[in-house]
Amino acid sequence: MPITRLTDSKNISTDEVLVVGFAQSDNGPELLEAAVALEAATKTEINEAIKLLNFAGKKSEITFLTIKSGILCVGLGKISKTQPLEMETLRRAAAVAARSLVGKKSALFALPTQTTVATQAVAVGVELGAYTFTEFKTKNEKNNESLKQANILVQDLFINKASFEEAQIIAESVKNVRNLVNTPPSHMYPETFANYVKKSFKKNSKLTLEVLDERALKRQGYGAIIGVGQGSINPPRLIRLAYKSRGAKFHLALVGKGITFDTGGISLKPPASMHTMKCDMAGAATVIEALRAIMNLDLKINVTAYAALAENMPSASAQRPSDVVTTYGGKTIEVLNTDAEGRLVLADALARAQEDKPDLIIDLATLTGAATVALGSRTAGIMSNKDEARDQVFASAKETGESMWPMQIPEESRTILDSKTADIANVGFTPNPAGGMMVGAAFLNEFVDEKTPWVHIDIAPPAFNEGAPYGYNGFGGTGVGVRTLVHLAQKLSG
Ligand code: BES
Ligand code: MN
Ligand code: ZN
Repeated sequence: MPITRLTDSKNISTDEVLVVGFAQSDNGPELLEAAVALEAATKTEINEAIKLLNFAGKKSEITFLTIKSGILCVGLGKISKTQPLEMETLRRAAAVAARSLVGKKSALFALPTQTTVATQAVAVGVELGAYTFTEFKTKNEKNNESLKQANILVQDLFINKASFEEAQIIAESVKNVRNLVNTPPSHMYPETFANYVKKSFKKNSKLTLEVLDERALKRQGYGAIIGVGQGSINPPRLIRLAYKSRGAKFHLALVGKGITFDTGGISLKPPASMHTMKCDMAGAATVIEALRAIMNLDLKINVTAYAALAENMPSASAQRPSDVVTTYGGKTIEVLNTDAEGRLVLADALARAQEDKPDLIIDLATLTGAATVALGSRTAGIMSNKDEARDQVFASAKETGESMWPMQIPEESRTILDSKTADIANVGFTPNPAGGMMVGAAFLNEFVDEKTPWVHIDIAPPAFNEGAPYGYNGFGGTGVGVRTLVHLAQKLSG
């Protein structure tokens, strides 16, 4: 991972690659002015060289010039008065550049960081773009490591200091989520997840950490979490991590689905769609890491994160399709499909969150494959019992460049779940693939009081990137959701 810092010096050391940005125009690529102007001679040299190449300056297009110790050109697309440079475009371009600098010692990012917001976008992009996960590679295979040193050129170090530090705090949390998601289920199960939280949050007066183990969960009536976890030799956990800030006026509850591996249970998944299911604890990782960033940013808001952790396995002790479980809130669920386990653990966790009387509950979950059918593999679905709350989350998602889209929870999604035996079933009695993302939301909706604003974010599509890298996301965990939650907390704090 690169050591990233700000610099106000355009001097390039030997072995250092210069990264410059281009706009796309009718007259060919246009070299964009960096925060500190480069020498006219350098600019001329770059412009002469780029002419000979097939480079237009399209968004995230890159090309390498072998001038001096190397110049990496990255496109930022069309820019005009009516079409100003978007921060997401800059973030992605910085990321694509950083990713392509694998094995390089140092790079000077001379991108258009004329504002502190732009500096932050470049810093986040560099950090996330250069991310790699090498934890389980033996030493000899680690020589293709990412860029070692990233220097971001700005005009004024002092003015940019705060937004740069903010970028680092946020990027750290996003990368932590990626690490948690990418860690294989052989190493990441409810107990080790809880140990990570215990170890990585140093005790301080603003924090309270409670971890319920399987015995406590049973004793206190968390029947749904117990039911999902009972097929595994790795018992479930429920984490409650509370951050309290003096003078805070808003209490935000964040609830995360934490299935450390989802085989489907007795309703076993086909092998082809099983190996990516180590990502099924992404929601839990995201709420914990969003809280960390909010704490590190010292935001004036109370945040409580709940991580509902279990491993969904088939075994002699696993729950059966048609079993009935009693949730923490007292409602009963008929488990018609053991693969719809996320909503089960969330039912308990939402009821528990409700007890703390938060002003807003947001849950994040890799809940349904249907979300991907509806929205494609890069966009999360936002659903809510209050349009206003949903729109607030949507606005924060747009501001941070995280792709999310609002969806409704139609009435018919709920009636599908009527059960002949219990209060509600976890799936429809007759298999019905239509609108599965909303059915999931309709189920969760039953476990929150209608007076409490609640937002459900189905992150199943974007949480894990199985395809080629795009923007600041490489292969594997993306850490989606952290930046939206932190942005929302910033809006709600004060
Ligand atoms: N964890 C899965 C959903 C998922 C699918 C996440 C693809 C990430 C990528 C979830 O527990 C699940 O199995 N959902 C079922 C629900 C169905 C049984 C109603 C699904 O989507 O098939
Ligand atoms: Mn499942
Ligand atoms: Zn699942």
